[in-house]
Amino acid sequence: MKRALITGITGQDGAYLASLLLDKGYHVTATHRRSSAPNFWRIEHLGIRNHPNLKLLELDLIDLSSCIRIVQAAEPDEVYNLGAQTFVTYSFEQPLTTAQITGLGPMHMLEAIRLVNGRIRYYQASSAEMFGKVQAVPQSETTPFYPRSPYGVSKLFAHWMTVNYRESFGLFGCSGILFNHESPLRGLDFVTRKITDGVARIKLQNGPPVELGNLGAKRDWGFALEYVEGMWRMLQASEPDTYVLATNRTETVRDFATLSFEAAGIAVEWVGKDENERGISPVDGRELVRINPRYYRPAEVDLLKGDSTKARMKLGWKPKTTLEELCTMMVRADLARIERSLVTEKEPARDLETLVSTPHLVGAGEHERVRVLMRQP
Ligand code: NAP
Ligand code: GDD
Repeated sequence: MKRALITGITGQDGAYLASLLLDKGYHVTATHRRSSAPNFWRIEHLGIRNHPNLKLLELDLIDLSSCIRIVQAAEPDEVYNLGAQTFVTYSFEQPLTTAQITGLGPMHMLEAIRLVNGRIRYYQASSAEMFGKVQAVPQSETTPFYPRSPYGVSKLFAHWMTVNYRESFGLFGCSGILFNHESPLRGLDFVTRKITDGVARIKLQNGPPVELGNLGAKRDWGFALEYVEGMWRMLQASEPDTYVLATNRTETVRDFATLSFEAAGIAVEWVGKDENERGISPVDGRELVRINPRYYRPAEVDLLKGDSTKARMKLGWKPKTTLEELCTMMVRADLARIERSLVTEKEPARDLETLVSTPHLVGAGEHERVRVLMRQP
């Protein structure tokens, strides 16, 4: 039985990756930060919280000695370092905290591996934010970096440290430069889930307009479950390397909102410019989206579009879910949550229909479990 250590199990990717590795027969040690109210809704949603091969331990990445002890205790073959302060906006408000967690945290894990067992394979969750003010379109492993936020700068430090430990100490360190990936398990701070949640509230609860910042920013959005599978593939390769995972399609935040409203059967028309731009219903003129400048960023990443040819050629990885499917999946999940009056992040409802309609995207165990649940009254 292979053993994996995952940091950041309470996050979107940590939950999906743990589920995937458990399905593959791994023993998984997964870490979360100590909290007076632990945030396990995602692993509960996936039905793995009490899995016999999942062990939950507390860890804060800013504490080197804890990282060493966790690596000793978990005795992993593979470490997936997903824990980070991940919200770009917040990184402008708390740059030092972000640097400590997102920049230095990975270095602590690398040091812990070097000290405890240099044969452990390491995955570093790098980010397309490192491309920032992009120097080429699309962005690949060879595109020069130009980060635009304390988050991006911190990720770049961690990326180069991973490369450096690979080259200096022969560590099997992989850096996955992942473009935005979303899902019904995405946090509400991020623009996609903020939109799909807002759309569902408008549809079912006559909710307020969705307030957004820069509608013109372009992102390359994929489905998170496919991206965590790519992480696993990187650590199964014969040599450690750096890979981009992306869909190679870029759309604006405005487009994502349009598709999400459409998924809920609501047409949207865009009127006005800049801060006065609004999304309105062509049927009754109702305001659906408005701009709130508080969501603008001090420095913006205008355009991300990734080229994942290398991952396709060397790992056999490619994304399957289209942006339309992703929007529909997320909107349906939010509609289902609200319909079941389970509206808080701590207690989302299971979106059974979505999971069953995407059998190729969920692990075999999860799919079977969902089918059984579907048969229940
Ligand atoms: P997420 O949902 O925000 O989850 C982040 C996780 O990191 C949470 O479990 C969080 O725990 C944990 N964490 C925060 N501070 C920590 C600390 N000091 N010590 C240990 N753990 C800590 O992020 P995600 O979307 O799953 O992303 C996973 C990783 O991929 C992150 O490193 C992110 O930067 C990177 N990434 C994500 C994307 C994307 O589009 N999703 C793209 C590129 C790269 P709490 O619950 O306690 O806060
Ligand atoms: N969050 C948010 N909220 N973003 C908004 C809003 C809003 O109300 N309105 C417009 N946006 C724009 C942002 O300015 C940005 O250009 C874009 O929507 C996407 O923002 P986020 O969803 O917050 O994601 P991100 O691209 O900044 O960062 C995500 O992807 C990175 C990989 O490219 C995060 O998951 C990072 O952790 C990840 O590394």
